[in-house]
Amino acid sequence: ANAADQVTVIRAGKLVDVVAGTVLKDQAIVITGERISAVGPNASTKVPAGAQVIDLSSQTVLPGLIDMHTHLTSDPYLAGYNALGVSDVRAALYGVRAARKTLEAGFTTVRDVGSSGTGFGDVALRDAINDGDFIGPRMRSAGHLIGMKGGHCDDNLLPPDANFAARGVADGPWAARAKVREMAKYGADVIKICASGGVLSKGDEAGAQEYTLEEMQAIVGEAHKLGRKVAAHAHGASAIRDAIVAGVDSIEHASLIDDEGIKLAKERGTYLVMDIYDDDFILQEGEKAGILPESLEKERKVGQLQRDNFRKAFGSGVKMAFGTDAGVYPHGDNAKQFYYMVKYGMTSMQAIQSATIGAADLLGWKDRVGSISVGKYADIIAVKGNAADDATELTKVSFVMKGGAVIRQQ
Ligand code: ARG
Repeated sequence: ANAADQVTVIRAGKLVDVVAGTVLKDQAIVITGERISAVGPNASTKVPAGAQVIDLSSQTVLPGLIDMHTHLTSDPYLAGYNALGVSDVRAALYGVRAARKTLEAGFTTVRDVGSSGTGFGDVALRDAINDGDFIGPRMRSAGHLIGMKGGHCDDNLLPPDANFAARGVADGPWAARAKVREMAKYGADVIKICASGGVLSKGDEAGAQEYTLEEMQAIVGEAHKLGRKVAAHAHGASAIRDAIVAGVDSIEHASLIDDEGIKLAKERGTYLVMDIYDDDFILQEGEKAGILPESLEKERKVGQLQRDNFRKAFGSGVKMAFGTDAGVYPHGDNAKQFYYMVKYGMTSMQAIQSATIGAADLLGWKDRVGSISVGKYADIIAVKGNAADDATELTKVSFVMKGGAVIRQQ
């Protein structure tokens, strides 16, 4: 973090105003310590004595990006049975590198939707980054994935002899409530549940519902009571509908959402977080990474449907926040998803808004991140190209600042 009284002025040739959805020319951003203290036209902004000036007058400047669905402790090349030999401590240490790569790619905040490991690696990463032990994005962490026995949030790779279950397994409303309490006790900011089966898990169907409505109502009631939002992994249509009715804050993946699900999401203001890039990586690299043949088969069934349903749901006016499932594909490649968001119906500005102000809203952090506004953290990035007209430029971030400290400058 930046020294409390250090003043920095950024000269921005173009400044993306994600709140208004416009681009302002020749602006100056004044940063005092960690926060933005003024934003206005360059011409009328005085540079205080002793201030550091950063000249981005030939670049497009944006708020730091936010990814709502990451797994920083996951190495994409250790999938399926390859993951079994990885200890929680090893995974957390891997996360140190993943955190740096993510931040350097312009993602200054991430929500980490947890792991099936027992060690709360994502919570430890968050705390270590906050303590300044190493650099990484601001994090909101989930701890364990909560789900039914044998479901996507369990781990079904070992035979019955091993008598193994993931620590987040909880069957029945009261067990599920207790699991939420346990996550809160050990520092989770957000609760991640599995409403349906998944792609990268053994022996389940992505489209099949897992948690019942009753279980999800218990989880949401408990989580909201404790001030935590709930993110529900759900590919299947009935799981999506029941999760929304139960009151979850976001549906992750949403691959097979139907018209009723779209209608419910609109009515309830539920965000969809659709990871429509990672299909590319799974199908191209998955076999090498150790992804099971049955998972590759499942991906071939849901990948394209998810992209088509992204277009349909967004076109119907459902709220969307940017989330990619980083960890399934290499950390730092998060911005590759912008290409697909634009291809499947968003303008570049809308895609940028989903990764800034929209994501900040879903995080419950609109007071501190998501736009270049007075009082918010100075989490600021820049690109040489015109990102507001072409969001794919965000794969080539040239400047990253987090909390007033320069992380990257080219
Ligand atoms: N973690 C998710 C799952 O295993 C990944 C899904 C990736 N595929 C996709 N088309 N988004 O279910």
